[in-house]
Amino acid sequence: MSQVCKVELEGKTYELPLMFGTEGEKAIDISKLRDLSGYITLDSGYKNTGATTSKITFLDGELGILRHRGYSIEDLAEKSNFLEVAYLVINGELPKKDEFESFTKRIKENMLIHEDLRAIIMGFPSSAHPMGVLSATVGALTAFHPNSLDPNISKDALYQTIIQLIAQMPTIAAWSYRKQVGRPINYPKRNMSYAGNFLQMMFDNPWEGYSPDPVVESALDKLFILHADHEQNCSTSTVRLVGSAQASLFASISSGISALWGPLHGGANQAVIEMLEMIMQDGGNVEKYINKAKDKNDTFRLMGFGHRVYKNFDPRAKIIKKAADDVLKKLGVNDPALEIAKKIEEIALKDEYFVSRSLYPNVDFYSGIIYRAIGIPTEMFTVMFALGRLPGWIAQWKEMREQKEPIGRPRQLYVGNPLRPYVDMQNR
Ligand code: CMC
Repeated sequence: MSQVCKVELEGKTYELPLMFGTEGEKAIDISKLRDLSGYITLDSGYKNTGATTSKITFLDGELGILRHRGYSIEDLAEKSNFLEVAYLVINGELPKKDEFESFTKRIKENMLIHEDLRAIIMGFPSSAHPMGVLSATVGALTAFHPNSLDPNISKDALYQTIIQLIAQMPTIAAWSYRKQVGRPINYPKRNMSYAGNFLQMMFDNPWEGYSPDPVVESALDKLFILHADHEQNCSTSTVRLVGSAQASLFASISSGISALWGPLHGGANQAVIEMLEMIMQDGGNVEKYINKAKDKNDTFRLMGFGHRVYKNFDPRAKIIKKAADDVLKKLGVNDPALEIAKKIEEIALKDEYFVSRSLYPNVDFYSGIIYRAIGIPTEMFTVMFALGRLPGWIAQWKEMREQKEPIGRPRQLYVGNPLRPYVDMQNR
């Protein structure tokens, strides 16, 4: 196969190198096109633009495939646990027993946050959205770990920063919830799992005590795994872009959290439950909302439906749908929102509008049902997504630095006014 592609512009032919990924993906390297011809490429929303080469996650949207470091998401969700997947995504290989034990131990030892950081969390008004608190507090970690700001940070110091982030995000998230509901905080405990510790910090109380239901603990761990990475999505691209300016890991991930907050991205899981509640309050007329979603004059969209890259099905949604059924059954919860969600899915999957546009339920469609069943407040759903996505953000940031990628700086096509003379204020 030819290794170059020929582009003809204004009567001249330019040869551009072709590149191939390990799973047969194909790319044209256009990095020299402007120097050669004066042309840039234009692709609003980067719908067909690769920003990097990466060894972390493989995704085939047409076939509904998702793999991390070569392992299928189905295998990882069934056989692994979140910290093992985090290690895999960040370091490239599944950990050996001693590596896993030392990784887990270091994370547990670092879960406690500085009391001054706790004071910052407590300083937010209880009306603060937990994603805003999370983004601000993760950014504030730079103040407590100033060596993280060094662009030439040593490998060991960076690894300690990574451990601190994975260890402390659940504590920050749970304490911001305790502040919001006006209850005393719970400190992390050494003898509990990562997911169990988060649940304990969220829900323990001095009167009754609390130990997480194993079904809930394992469902949460699985949800974290399903969110662990998703290649160059909006928040991950944000993390890589911010990091490309040599901003610290904490600062870059704080920006990623803000990007994730948007309702078209991670914020969709909150929006899904709000949509299901709205439909229930409106008498459960699913057809009415399907029609609204199809109406181009209506801004309503079916939240939890559609995906930029999955055009067949989202493999994570399949696993989550089953997990939602299992969790609700085991906890004996009868959530009418699940029935509405299933009805929407059933109708939409047969409707020409959704079929012709390849719109399927995405990861956010059923995850909120599980979060709700296990007592997570709706405003915290996207925080749960962020906790799961953290290893992916870290791995992508680290890869970008290790590949010594240049600062991210897209071009544009200027379509504004040409040069014109300045006009004095009295003459405008
Ligand atoms: N409801 C109704 N119509 C939709 C929807 C939807 N949820 N999603 C896409 N469409 C239509 C859209 O109107 C357009 O129609 P037309 O071709 O007639 O103009 C067509 O489908 C293509 O949509 P698009 O907006 O051009 O596609 P995109 O790749 O830019 O957007 C998306 C992807 C996920 C932002 C979009 O599908 C959406 O807004 N979904 C709802 C929000 C959501 O669930 N987001 C979570 C994504 S998964 C979690 C994550 O990784 O962030």
